[in-house]
Amino acid sequence: MNSEPVLQLENLVKRYDREVLNIERLTLHRGKIYGIIGPSGSGKSTLLRIVNLLVKPDQGVIRYFGRSYNGAGDTLFLRRQMTLVFQKTLLFKTTVFENVAYGLKARGFKKREIRDRVYVLLDKVGLRGMAHRQAGTLSGGEAQRVALARAIAFEPKLLLLDEPTANLDPANVELMEKLILDRKMTADMTIAMVTHNIFQARRVADEVIFLYNGRVAEMGNVEQVFTAPQNPQTREFIEGRMIY
Ligand SMILES: Nc1ncnc2c1ncn2[C@@H]1O[C@H](COP(=O)(O)OP(=O)(O)OP(=O)(O)O)[C@@H](O)[C@H]1O
Ligand SMILES: [Mg+2]
Repeated sequence: MNSEPVLQLENLVKRYDREVLNIERLTLHRGKIYGIIGPSGSGKSTLLRIVNLLVKPDQGVIRYFGRSYNGAGDTLFLRRQMTLVFQKTLLFKTTVFENVAYGLKARGFKKREIRDRVYVLLDKVGLRGMAHRQAGTLSGGEAQRVALARAIAFEPKLLLLDEPTANLDPANVELMEKLILDRKMTADMTIAMVTHNIFQARRVADEVIFLYNGRVAEMGNVEQVFTAPQNPQTREFIEGRMIY
């Protein structure tokens, strides 16, 4: 039995100079980790940007938590339910501590509680000792861990990750994957993670979505998609035979 839907897309279309996304139907269920894979240009980032309300679709229906969103009105409530972490982190030009505290302040926590929670999060990402460093002085891997801690501090219902480990060394990739998989930390979050790395999708995801030319070419349980893909393109892609 699937848990309740967090996100439902219907006939979602986005065109730039050509159609780049066309999703007939896609549902993300609560508490699952989705790995979104597909060749470069297949629409993975566009999909996350639309879901995160950064980009408007040309057509289609989006339902968040069972309620349809028509593209108008107050989005503050929705924006508080989801966070997008990019490949290239944009941290605020302040300390590590303040970066992580930001989400907690936004959620109205008292000063003392903010401090306690920030240190718990920094412990988790292995950066307690860097709380008072300026974010701009961090290495790429450290910055990305701060970005994840900041995102998780919001306790979003939907955590969107766009290639969060693309520029990291293997040790930092492993750390990030551990954090994502630490379901005590990400309790109750539905996670949609775009990754170029099919091995990472296999390690992290419960369900895999394969985008091809802006369409969902395949979706299913991670083992099923990797061991018995239904779509020939999926097979080519996961076997590394797809040229793009
Ligand atoms: N603002 C834009 N204006 C015009 N075309 C765009 C814009 N944003 C994206 N595109 C095009 O839409 C298509 C999908 O882009 P998108 O960034 O979603 O792909 P992607 O799957 O994330 O690729 P990658 O794996 O390289 O990050 C691409 O052909 C891209 O050039
Ligand atoms: Mg992308």
